[in-house]
Amino acid sequence: MKNDDQNYLMEILAKVHDRTGFDFTQYKDATLIRRIKTRLRRLNIATYKDYIGILDSDDGEYYELINTITINVTEFFRNVDSFKAIEELVVPALIESKRKRRHHLFRIWSCACSDGDEAYSMAILLKEQLQKQGGGYTIRVTGSDIDEEALGRARKGSYEKTRLKAVNRELLDQYFEEVEEGVFRIKGCIRDIVKFRQHDIIKDRAIRHNDIILCRNLLIYFNKQLQEETLLKLYECLNPGGFLILGMCETLVGSALERFEGVNNRLRIYRRPSSIDPADRSDEGSATLSQQDVDKLVGEILD
Ligand SMILES: C[S@@+](CC[C@H](N)C(=O)[O-])C[C@H]1O[C@@H](n2cnc3c(N)ncnc32)[C@H](O)[C@@H]1O
Repeated sequence: MKNDDQNYLMEILAKVHDRTGFDFTQYKDATLIRRIKTRLRRLNIATYKDYIGILDSDDGEYYELINTITINVTEFFRNVDSFKAIEELVVPALIESKRKRRHHLFRIWSCACSDGDEAYSMAILLKEQLQKQGGGYTIRVTGSDIDEEALGRARKGSYEKTRLKAVNRELLDQYFEEVEEGVFRIKGCIRDIVKFRQHDIIKDRAIRHNDIILCRNLLIYFNKQLQEETLLKLYECLNPGGFLILGMCETLVGSALERFEGVNNRLRIYRRPSSIDPADRSDEGSATLSQQDVDKLVGEILD
């Protein structure tokens, strides 16, 4: 990257931090430069200097810039194979563990959920799977994102048909209503399970005690150091025995490699080891399947 680009980038990011509290300094430089250039093109501006002038004269531009930096692309059951593995491997492991401990609460966190597709997908998947067990479980899904606008869309819960390509007819009929031609709204029975909140994974208080955390297609924007810090944070937010699911282009880095067990490396599914500390046994929502149990389940799926 040119020195000039680097200097202006630092100046712009410092301004964004001062004005909005959002700290993008540990996002990948190349991605940030690309995004800022997109903004320059959209405003028909030739230089970073002119752009800084616009930031100084128009507060609204900070939010336009943040919107451009935070890419919201998502869809229901994105990377279907991951959801299949959650259904066939992760959920049965958790059910078995909870049954042993007579725990009934499943807590799921969709971190960086964008417009909510991922959070609702998880709620649908779990509702379906737990119904097959005869019910009696409580599901709580939290969807969080830094981007208030995306969260507004998530709370609204209305989606164009193109976002629902991976939802089969049966699930579509059961959990969505067509509110206008080609637009489907998620029904109340799923909406009741999912709560959305604004949350910046870099600076906000942890959302703890989860059985499953999906954090997909967020780490790709971060530099290595921030990736490691985030993974360690997510580790702390999982119950012992809980599962972490990353995006297909993401992986464990640094000391996080030693913390998590790999469950399915290809599908980026990892697990916080179950605690052997008896004091932890009272932790509601924990999963206690041994690594051996998980390996057996993985083997059955891969066979
Ligand atoms: C590409 S979307 C991923 C959506 C979904 N997880 C998926 O994989 O389909 C990335 C999301 O990360 C959010 N994001 C970026 N930085 C964040 C941060 N520091 N904390 C929380 N969310 C963040 C963006 O607003 C965006 O909605």
